[in-house]
Amino acid sequence: MSTTTTHTALEVLFSREQIGRRVAEIGRQIDQDYAGERIVLVGVLKGAAIFLADLARSISVDNTFDFVAVSSYGKGSRTSGAVKLIKDLDNPIEGKNVIIVEDILDTGLTLNFLRSLFEQHQPKSLRIAALLDKPSRRVEKIDADYVGFTIPNQFVIGYGMDFAERYRNLPDICLMPPDEAVGLAAPELPAR
Ligand code: IMP
Repeated sequence: MSTTTTHTALEVLFSREQIGRRVAEIGRQIDQDYAGERIVLVGVLKGAAIFLADLARSISVDNTFDFVAVSSYGKGSRTSGAVKLIKDLDNPIEGKNVIIVEDILDTGLTLNFLRSLFEQHQPKSLRIAALLDKPSRRVEKIDADYVGFTIPNQFVIGYGMDFAERYRNLPDICLMPPDEAVGLAAPELPAR
């Protein structure tokens, strides 16, 4: 169900309440799956920061955080597939239960790159939690183990997700309005 925020007139795709309920469900699922274990949550900056903060607090099993950052080149219509690590893990993940926490699984290039990279570190287990999944955009064959919401090919902002670095602070997940509505004229997907 779509509603509209009072302050900005943005169309809300998922409200903060819907997000909160779904994140809590994922947390409970992770608690069941990792009962008696320890986990490392690896957030992909910057988009996943807010999801990781909420997810971590929905998880009761012993967990620590780490963060990586990547940059992607030629996104949107000019996808080159090149993903580069610009901030590495702070701590070793060898022998650990790792969950990569990402805002959106889109083409899959980012998570495919990170999964291959992390597998080389020989973690005890490696899973993916993505708040949003856009399967229709997939280029790489990759699925998340935990998905908040599956959405069609829509560009979304808020709850950590940006357009040209703006809107990450919106508490709801909103649909990106037409460019003219926000005074931006950038047809490409934004830089992370
Ligand atoms: P991919 O799966 O490698 O194509 O890239 C996923 C990344 O692209 C996400 O982590 C976001 O940073 C960005 N992204 C993809 N779709 C959106 C969107 O709708 N809004 C904001 N960022 C997006």
